[in-house]
Order: sequence, then structure tokens, then C-alpha cells
Amino acid sequence: MAALGTSSCLVGPVPFKDVTKDHEDGQTVVSPTAEHADILSTLPSIAAGPDLQLRQYQGVWLSAYMVAGMISVQRRFMSRPGDVILASPPKCGTTWLKALAFATMARTTYPPSDADHPLRRLNPHERVPFMENQFSAGQGAKLEALPSPRLLHTHMHYSMLPPSLAGCCKMVYVCREPKDMLVSMWHFFKSAGLNLPFPDLFELACHGQNPYGPIWDHVLGYWAASTARPERVMFLRYEEMLADPVSTVRQLGRFLGVPFTAADEAAGSPVDIAEMCSIDALRSLDANKTGINGSFIKFGHQAFFRKGVVGDWVNHMTPEMARRFDAIVDDKLRGSGLAFTLVRALACQEPDASSLPACV
Ligand code: A3P
Repeated sequence: MAALGTSSCLVGPVPFKDVTKDHEDGQTVVSPTAEHADILSTLPSIAAGPDLQLRQYQGVWLSAYMVAGMISVQRRFMSRPGDVILASPPKCGTTWLKALAFATMARTTYPPSDADHPLRRLNPHERVPFMENQFSAGQGAKLEALPSPRLLHTHMHYSMLPPSLAGCCKMVYVCREPKDMLVSMWHFFKSAGLNLPFPDLFELACHGQNPYGPIWDHVLGYWAASTARPERVMFLRYEEMLADPVSTVRQLGRFLGVPFTAADEAAGSPVDIAEMCSIDALRSLDANKTGINGSFIKFGHQAFFRKGVVGDWVNHMTPEMARRFDAIVDDKLRGSGLAFTLVRALACQEPDASSLPACV
């Protein structure tokens, strides 16, 4: 089993919470929302229901709290060689990707068979920090405490990333069929007590005004980056991960420079990692049944593990709503080489599909 005291021997990332647990309090210097109040006050604003006000920053709709964190990331984040950035729109499999990437990168230090594996005692968000959220809380300096190689996460659009980060880090991006993302987002907000009726969220999304929207801009930014620099940006789709999680683990290993060897394969390492990170395995852990995540809106850890299927939109959208949203998304993606058409067709045949072929 790995001992944290011997950090010079560690290979791969260490859990964020293990590094920062002795420094939980007292690091907030100036509230970023106060620091950036002059910028925030000039931004266009809309109400996303009675509980959530969104501002448009650099073309993206966000809470003022997150805008402040992103401005701080843009101004202060210091990237390091070896940093790995996980990126995603919200509700597209971030938690799962955090678990898989951590387990893959850190497997020498923390073999998946380890009873005290960080995945078994910490929620994935406690292991891999959410960069702009750390900065929003005035705790961006904590990211400096992590030894290299750091594994970090952002929901920022590609166009918003500080140049040093986009230029030098490896990035793994995950996206999801947008209707399923929207349904997942609605359930997530509901779990935190936010009053945002689904038809309202849907209408906002059609106009690109859902939180972190427009969704098509989010996806297209990373899609373009991954096609221009595939050695730097890996583009994953939630549906493909569900169809073959073991292949995803192998792909991650290759991309991140820690490929699985013949000996790893013989020992069953990719299969063990995929099983340890399955939604059933994760949701059964105490670390994911209790606890709270988030500083602006508080989400219970269990809210990150809901259904984990393809095609749940069918339980929340009429066929007419689905047609309208699909048409908008198709129009925005036209000519990019990226589409969700095949995922949609397959999800209609088999909503809980776990056997989708690779698709674009
Ligand atoms: P649903 O709400 O559709 O069930 P994020 O981590 O970006 O917030 O995304 C959350 C979505 O990923 C939720 O989707 C959640 O159930 C699903 N999810 C979480 N862990 C998963 C896992 N290990 N395998 C598959 N899906 C997972």
C-alpha cells in the first residue's frame, strides 16, 4: 500500500485532499467576486430561474461566482510541464473520468487491488481539484501544493483557457449527447434544491444560455483542438466510454504516456481499473454516499452517481422538444466533422445501451 509520507517515491498524481487536508482553513485572501467586481458588473445577465443568475463572460453563460474563478485562473494559474488537465461540460462524465484517469496514472503507487486505494476512501472530486472552483473560493494557491504530475479539472471552454495551459499540458476532454447532458444537469440542480423547471432549462439551452453554454461552443472548441493536436488533446465521448470502459482505460494509458504493458494486461490491470470505477462500484462506497461538494451551490456526493445511462432524455422531453434541440445542435456542428447522430439513433433502439460501437 502507498504511504503518502514517501512522496519522493510516488509515481503519478496524489489525491488533492491528502495534500491539502492540513490546510483546510484560513487561506482565503480576497474574495474573487469582490476582486473582479468591476468586470462582473459590466457583464450581460439573465435569470436562470429564481435561484440562479447567469452572466455572459467571453461568450459563455456562468454564475458570477464561476466567472470570478475563471478570471483568476486566466490571470494566475501557473501551468507546469507534466500537468494533465481533464476538461468537460458539466454532467458529461467528469466524475467518472476523474476516477479513471487517476487510477490509470497512479496505478504503480496505488494498484487497483489496494484496499486503501484513494478511490475507495475519497470522492473523485476530492482527488482531482476543480480549478476554477478552487480559485472562486479564493483557494487557488492550494493547487501549488500538489506535487507533479498534477491531475486537474476544468469546465472552462477551450477558448477561455490561459495560453500557457492550452499550449503545454496534455488534456483529456469528455462530452456527451447534449439532451442527456441537459437532463442530467436538471436532476443535479434539483438535488441541490435549485428551482429550475425543466422546460425553462430546455428553453435556455436552445438559446445557448444554459449554465456553461452554449454547449455546442464547448464541444467544438475541444473538438477543433483535438483534431489539430491529437497528441495534446484527447477527445472522449461518454457513450463510447459506456460501451467499452476497458478500451477507454487502455486509450487513457497510451495517451497519458503510461501504456499498459503485457504484464499489466496479464495481471488484469485495465479490467480492474474499469471495474473499480464503474458507477455501481463507486456509488456503493461510503465516500460517495455521504459528504458535500461545491462551495457556491452545495451538491451531495451521491448526486454525482445517478443513472449513468444513454438516452434518459426520453423520460423528460417530448419528441417535438427533442427534434427542435437536435436540429439546433446539428446546425451548430455542421461542417465540423463532429455529430451526435449515431449516438442518438442507437440510444433510441436501446436506451440503456452498453454496446454502442465507436461513433462520430
Ligand atoms: P446521469 O445524471 O445521466 O445519471 P459529471 O460527473 O460530469 O457531473 O456527470 C454526471 C453523470 O455521469 C451522471 O449522469 C452520472 O450518473 C454519470 N456517472 C457518474 N459516475 C459514472 C460512472 N462511473 N460510470 C458511468 N456514468 C457515471
